Amino acid sequence: MKVTVGVCGGIAAYKAAELVRALQRQALDVHVVMTEAAREFIQPLTFASLTGHKVITGLWSSGSAESNLDSAIQHISESQWADVLVVAPATANVLAKFAHGIADDFLSTMYLAITAPVVVAPAMNVNMWQHPATHANLETLKNRGVQVVDPKSGYLACGMVGDGRMAEPELIVERVLLVLNHRNDLAGEVVLVTAGGTREAVDPVRFLGNRSSGKMGYAIAEAAQSRGARVILVTGPTVLHPPANCEVIPVVTADEMRSAVLGRLDEASIVIKAAAVADYRPVVRSEQKLKRSGPITLELVPTEDILAEVVRLRRPETLVVGFAAETENVLVHGRDKLLRKGADAIVLNDVGRPGVGFDSDRNAATFLTVQTAIEFPEMAKRDLAERILDETLALRRPLSVITETSPHVAQRD
Ligand code: PMT
Repeated sequence: MKVTVGVCGGIAAYKAAELVRALQRQALDVHVVMTEAAREFIQPLTFASLTGHKVITGLWSSGSAESNLDSAIQHISESQWADVLVVAPATANVLAKFAHGIADDFLSTMYLAITAPVVVAPAMNVNMWQHPATHANLETLKNRGVQVVDPKSGYLACGMVGDGRMAEPELIVERVLLVLNHRNDLAGEVVLVTAGGTREAVDPVRFLGNRSSGKMGYAIAEAAQSRGARVILVTGPTVLHPPANCEVIPVVTADEMRSAVLGRLDEASIVIKAAAVADYRPVVRSEQKLKRSGPITLELVPTEDILAEVVRLRRPETLVVGFAAETENVLVHGRDKLLRKGADAIVLNDVGRPGVGFDSDRNAATFLTVQTAIEFPEMAKRDLAERILDETLALRRPLSVITETSPHVAQRD
């Protein structure tokens, strides 16, 4: 496996040499890209000696026209070569460039071109780390699937004490190995994901809808895709860009979502239903815009329960994971939904909690099966998506002996 290490300008750049050695001890082939600022802290020769490869220091190499042509496309060839890009130390500046798509040097250009996973290990002054701009940039990157190895607390080169020290190289290597091993664990799977909310028309301009943004479902689709699955994404209206290369089936109503899901069910080996489907629709849709003339009554009928139908009609080997959005007696209602709908698992989220659930970039959940309840603390939806996929895959492994009759509550963070 091949790793490109991006080294940025910070005092922790010297630790990048240790990181390179630690990656090589895992039999990984390592290339190094250095920013201009990194070269103020450590010499390219150090990395060239360690790796046996020329260190990439810029977009353009001086020399013949031929070598200039090579360097003009080297960021593309390097991004195709690497199975993972690790940026350590990652400065506030490079995180901002990655988050905003600025491509003004080799590393930031390579970041835009790479489709392989990206891991960043930030290192900076504590105030820079805590600045809302840095946090917003990290959130953006996490939501796009970038893995962040958080810095540690301690004495910083600037003399201050606090968060901002780059994580130890062993921790970064651990994450790289996790990412590389993860990468293809869904190869051969067809994952059907539903996302967003459905809309039930009242008249030509109004509908009954809900606050689902689609972020949770899209995060699952993106994570599954990046782990090698073929993804079919059935989505209600959203403003999100679907992950590249996944098949998108746009729908509006619960009935359209039902047809799309049941129509593709035979292909799916895993179904994950993150969509917020309308439970009711108006019996009559007015052909003309309803006029304002005092109180009106809408008669509603229940929609079909797509999740329950999926459970009934699936192939026996197909895993089905539903969601449950609850605001009270969360565990009791979640367990009731799990049993009533017959899914293999339910991702239970408390949508009454501030900062998580509908239209947030973050969520917290309980992965509920008949035997277990695994708590996922609040995290970025993209990270939660990975956890959901991990536990979904684990459903295929036979459970070790379970002696309790009540569900086992576990904490995985
Ligand atoms: O989209 P986001 O803004 O990111 O928000 C994410 C979310 C809060 C929407 C998501 O995390 C979530 O909880 N999704 C399920 C919302 C929901 O409709 O929950 P429910 O408890 O009403 O439904 C239970 C399950 O049955 C869900 O899997 C749902 O897709 C399914 N269902 C519901 C009604 C119906 N007619 N058919 C169904 O299949």
